Amino acid sequence: MADQKMKGGTVSIMVLIFLVLSATFHGCFAAIGQVQPPRKRNTVVNGFGSSVFLTVSGNVYPLGYYSVTVGIGNPPKPFQLDIDTGSDLTWVQCDAPCTGCSLPRDQLYKPVKNNFLACKDPICAALHSKAHQCTNPNEKCGFQVDYADHGSVLGAMLSDNFPLRLVNNSLSSPLLAFGCGYRLQSRSPHPPTTAGVLGLGKSKASISSQLSGMRITKNVVGHCLSGQGGFLFLGADFVPKSGMTWTPMLQNSFDKHYSSGPAELLFGGKPTGVKGLDVIFDSGATYTYLTSKVYQTVLNLVRKDLSGKQLQDVKDKALPICWKGAKSFKSVTEARKYFNTFALSFNGASNTHLLLPPEAYLIVTVSTSANLLQRLKTSAVL
Ligand SMILES: *[C@@H]1O[C@H](CO)[C@@H](O)[C@H](O)[C@H]1NC(C)=O
Repeated sequence: MADQKMKGGTVSIMVLIFLVLSATFHGCFAAIGQVQPPRKRNTVVNGFGSSVFLTVSGNVYPLGYYSVTVGIGNPPKPFQLDIDTGSDLTWVQCDAPCTGCSLPRDQLYKPVKNNFLACKDPICAALHSKAHQCTNPNEKCGFQVDYADHGSVLGAMLSDNFPLRLVNNSLSSPLLAFGCGYRLQSRSPHPPTTAGVLGLGKSKASISSQLSGMRITKNVVGHCLSGQGGFLFLGADFVPKSGMTWTPMLQNSFDKHYSSGPAELLFGGKPTGVKGLDVIFDSGATYTYLTSKVYQTVLNLVRKDLSGKQLQDVKDKALPICWKGAKSFKSVTEARKYFNTFALSFNGASNTHLLLPPEAYLIVTVSTSANLLQRLKTSAVL
């Protein structure tokens, strides 16, 4: 069953699938389903920096998250981390010892003596808001993150080596700051199967910012997520040079998220009356979230469009809105003939459209009925 994750803060709308993000004021909308590394061009961009390329596994449903595996320490130990462009802190479940950790003890990160980050470290300051104060010079850097799904993690900041294979074939093992999470609370009935979170947000504390501060990669984050995993890159080598549509990212200093807007919502290519949407891109949120007014509009449009079609409203545990067809849906592409495409039109200088076809807002759920037969249904993920 879907373990709905929402790692970013409270927001007006979130779009997570089929996007590539970049922290250099651009969001690029990538082709989907491409899980092979794109061919790297042998160009050095402004003299420094290579890139890190990581294979992403996961899906929106039934898993509810996307993750990468990174090694930490010397010798490195592998950790599966939830990729999250909606938060800054990278942390792992940590044997300090730990309360609330979901992994077996031998799979936890074991802190090494003296690798605690000092409170006065600039990365510690970046993690905390304005009121960051260190009372004595030897104070360690603590952290607490409360996620939007009401889960939380508390711990201490450490630094350790992250051995990374760069795309120029060099091996780099930078000392990066990350969190040792030793007090975890999860409000979800399904404890996380990942070892922690890879924080890819905008702050100086995020892994992407740390790598660019060391001039190992450019401060660019890109990802391509499909129904069966995808890829993540840090650095500028894989930013496609053609076949892309670009829209600027908002530069609000008060907003710590990657966001774009204002956008107008279209349905079947026609205006819906919904305008002025600021959109947050958050790979740590399972679904796309809309404000209740916009959600109602969207739902009304979908329902109106369905009138006269052979779909029946049914109840399903996975999501609140669900339809059943005359025959079981085997894949979401079969639902295409019943549903129309939404689009977000970013009406800045270049009128770019982010298309949301039925496959991007519907999932086919698997639920076990009383007679234990598996039935497939379609639910709206709006
Ligand atoms: C690869 O990139 C890294 C980081 O920018 C750099 O330190 C290293 O010298 C590069 N290696 C080669 C073989 O160019």
